[in-house]
Parts: sequence; C-alpha cells; structure tokens
Amino acid sequence: MRPKKIKDDIWFVGAVDWDRRLFDALVPLPDGTSYNAYLVKGSEKTVLIDTVDPTMVDVLMSNLEGIETIDFIISHHSEQDHSGAIPHVLEKYKDAKVITSPKGKGLLIEHLHIPEEGIITVKDGETISLGNKTIEFLHAPWVHWPETMVTHLREDRILFSCDLFGSHLAMSELYSSEDWRVCEAAKRYYAEIMMPFRTTIRRHIERFEGYQIDMIAPSHGPVHKDPECIIKSHKEWVSDKLNNTVILPYVTMHGSTQRMVDYLTESLIEKGVRVERFNLLVTDTGKLAMALVDAATIVIGSPMVLGGAHPLVVSATFLTNALRPKLRFASIIGSYGWGGKMVEQITGLISNIKAEMLEPVLVKGLPGDEGYKGLERLASEIATKHRENNIVSSAKTPGN
Ligand code: FEO
Repeated sequence: MRPKKIKDDIWFVGAVDWDRRLFDALVPLPDGTSYNAYLVKGSEKTVLIDTVDPTMVDVLMSNLEGIETIDFIISHHSEQDHSGAIPHVLEKYKDAKVITSPKGKGLLIEHLHIPEEGIITVKDGETISLGNKTIEFLHAPWVHWPETMVTHLREDRILFSCDLFGSHLAMSELYSSEDWRVCEAAKRYYAEIMMPFRTTIRRHIERFEGYQIDMIAPSHGPVHKDPECIIKSHKEWVSDKLNNTVILPYVTMHGSTQRMVDYLTESLIEKGVRVERFNLLVTDTGKLAMALVDAATIVIGSPMVLGGAHPLVVSATFLTNALRPKLRFASIIGSYGWGGKMVEQITGLISNIKAEMLEPVLVKGLPGDEGYKGLERLASEIATKHRENNIVSSAKTPGN
C-alpha cells in the first residue's frame, strides 16, 4: 500500500485490511475494511489525522517514510482501530502532540497509556492553523463513542468524519461510487455501528450541513468525492420513515415453527406486506441489522427450549434490542412441547424498542387449524396497522 494523494498536500496514508472478517469479536466483515489515516501538510505545520489498527502499524509507518516532521496527531476517536497506532507514531515523531477532545484525553490515557503531557484538548468549534490551512474541531459525541469528534479542513472543504459515513469495505479505489457493493457496505456499517445513536446522529448531520463540504473523508472505507449521495442515504436511515416490511428472524427444531413462518410469510405477502426472513442457523447478522434499519415490524419465531426461546433467538433478540431500530410493531410466533415462558422472556429482551406488541401465536406441537387461524389474524392485524399508520412504502434508498 502506498500513500494516495487526495488534493495538493493531502494524502491517504492508512491501511486496507483485505482479510479481516470480524470486528469487536462480533461484527461480520464480509468485505474486509480499511483504517483511514490522512496526512495534511500546511505551510507551517503538518498533521496526521487518525492512525490505524495496531495490526497494520507497519503499513502506516511505511506510508510515512520521508515525512520528517509531524506536529500534531489528531485522535478523533480513542477506539483502537483509529488510535491504536498512536504510541508507535510517537516513538518516531517524539515532539508530536496528540489533539483530542477532553473526554478523549482520559480514554487515550486509559486505553493506550499515552503520556498525559503529550496530549492537547480542544473545545467544540476550536481551530488550529497549519499556516495556509485551518482545521476546525467539531465535537460529535456518540458517533460511536462519547468522546468522538470530527474535523473540518476549512480551505479545502473536507469533512474528516471519523466513523460517521464510513463503511467496512476493503477496495482498491480510493473514492466511492454508486456501485451496489459500496452502497450496501455503507448501509451495513450504519446498521451495525451507528443505528443505536440514530437521533444523536440526525442532529450532527443537520449541524454539518451548515459547513461547506466538497468531500467527506471517513475513517473506514471509501472517500466520498461527491458527498450528496452518502448524506442523503444517512438522512433517510436516521429519519422516522418506516417501510412496509416485516422482519422474520426464526429458528426451527422439528419443523413446526418452520411451517408457521412459511404460512405467515405467504399470508403477509398476499396482504401486500413485504417480508424479509432470517433463518438464524445460517444468518449473517449484518444482513439482519441492515433489514432492521427501516422495517416497521418484527415477528420473532422460536421453538420452546427448556422453558424459553432457542439460544440463537435469544442472541438475535438481544442484538436487535441493542441496535435500537425504529420498529413500530412486534410479535412472537412458535411451537412448544409442554410449556414455558418464551413470550415473557423475549418481551423482556426488547425493552429498548418502543414497539406495540401484537398478540403472539403459540401452538403445541405441529400447527393445526387454530394455529393457522391465529397466524391469519396476526397477518391481517399487521397489514391493517401498517395501512392505518400510513406505512405503505417499501421504497429503496441507496444501500437497501
Ligand atoms: Fe472505527 Fe468506533 O471505531
């Protein structure tokens, strides 16, 4: 990997991680990722904006060969994939000062043991001059972590947006395109990382729109030379708009829950409701997260196992709750052998989601007439609720 010039005196010096397949021991990365670091040379001062994951520090240091002086290292966000290589950079550039938010200072000391005397904190809206270039710091708490900030390079009209507008995508091109793979990676990233902070991010985006931005350079994935598309997609995702879609994550053990899921799917489609199904034995949880970005309803399907839901269902439900999607309605379907507390358990797991719970449908053993009648009633209720709440669109936004 070599430095890539973005504009005069501005380079991408980060690393593309083609092989990484899991982030935070949790998030699947089917397309790898990149750790974007940028070097900005002003007429008087030189700044490194973020670093890379410690596993790829050699790539960063190789990209900095020939750079004799770095005056400042900006740490937008203390997480290791961006700040983890700061200690290595400081070994070479001993006089460089690390610039971060006040909250970031504590985290850098705690997580990376960076010496306190080498850290400068900046207030929201504060600027530094590089001579012929000015950097403005914009605090953006909960653009993943509470200490996060972004920077606006004023003269070049570039927003260095940290995790916001990012993608876990390894690619040879520096710039984004409207290629489906690029769009899907952006939505996947939003779903997995940003969705829990939807309302906060909405406010940040509104604020950033007051700045002159010709280019967005995030900390993961491609740089957006024409930022309109990525901003439009994010505005759609953080909005309150819902699609006429039911998400159906499920597990079946002996086929009874499968029959219920099949029946409900057909009944919903017949009534004009779109369905996205996820057999949790084989589901990529990133795909489930993406579907949750704008779906109106979730119906969770599970057999009863030792008095509760199947463990894979418990895990998916826990994740759904943590991601705080804007779901409006929820229900539960499934089969049991002799009884249990599955409904109470699942309901307790989705306390973050302010969805109206529609009457669950549980059957003993194989579903019969009563069970299918219950599913028909549930499908009708969902279709009616969607219509009454004007949730009729299944319109696609980029990345859907
Ligand atoms: Fe890419 Fe929140 O770190």
